[in-house]
Amino acid sequence: MKLKIVTLLLILLPAVGFASSASKMEMDHIEVALNNKASLQNGAKLFVNYCLSCHSAQYMRYNRMASDLGIPEDVVRENMVFTDSKIGDLMTTTMNAKDATKWFGVAPPDLSLIGRLRDPEWLYNYLRSFYLDENSPSGWNNVVFENVAMPHALYELQGQRKAIFKTVTEADGLEVEKLDRFELVKPGKMTLEEYDDAMKDLTNFLVYLGEPAKMVRGKYGVWVIIFLLMFGALAYALKKEYWRDVH
Ligand code: HEC
Repeated sequence: MKLKIVTLLLILLPAVGFASSASKMEMDHIEVALNNKASLQNGAKLFVNYCLSCHSAQYMRYNRMASDLGIPEDVVRENMVFTDSKIGDLMTTTMNAKDATKWFGVAPPDLSLIGRLRDPEWLYNYLRSFYLDENSPSGWNNVVFENVAMPHALYELQGQRKAIFKTVTEADGLEVEKLDRFELVKPGKMTLEEYDDAMKDLTNFLVYLGEPAKMVRGKYGVWVIIFLLMFGALAYALKKEYWRDVH
């Protein structure tokens, strides 16, 4: 009996967790565009400037990124490598995990595979949903990832916002807290539209980072389909030719 209850709890608990965390705000949609080099390059620039200080991307080398995204190696060397790493090195961070844990309570995870762990929609909305919260140790909180230990790394660009919540009664009678709106307290360097576009680029880059081979696969895919169509037409013509005398 006891075992049954425990099993039941184990099954139900995650469901309850998801239900409460997923419903605080409507997620905005994003189209991932891995064929958009300009977007990926801008995402890479944002990533090395604003994220690599805390997070690593330890499965990616600078020169692989340079060739995949069409960025000349000297541009990467001069503008995108801030540590004493070389162009062929992995994109590691200078922050060590022990210090990070002391500062944030939890070490910033490696972001190489984050584009597979989280879907693009989640990443795009997460990066746009930081708000000021005086009760949080970093001074920041996030509507998509409640009580996240990460401070808003891009507040200079997006500006500083407050979140206003409202209580809503759901169809089943349950009262839940939902985001009503964000209020801009101090504008950043970008307008909100520019910031959203920049976050599309950064999300695009994180998806690329999670599976760099996808870009190449997409390119081959087109040729494979063209080949199959041509081969299909040829096979059909051949079949007609063989059967002509039989009919
Ligand atoms: C000042 C250090 C710092 C900077 C800069 C920073 N982060 Fe973080 N980030 C963290 C920490 C710490 C966590 C862990 C949060 C937690 O688990 O509560 C985190 C978590 C995350 C997560 C969630 C991972 C998960 O568990 O799903 C994502 C995504 C992320 N960061 C992306 C970024 C991106 C993109 C940038 C650059 C714009 C960035 N971070 C810049 C410290 C940082």
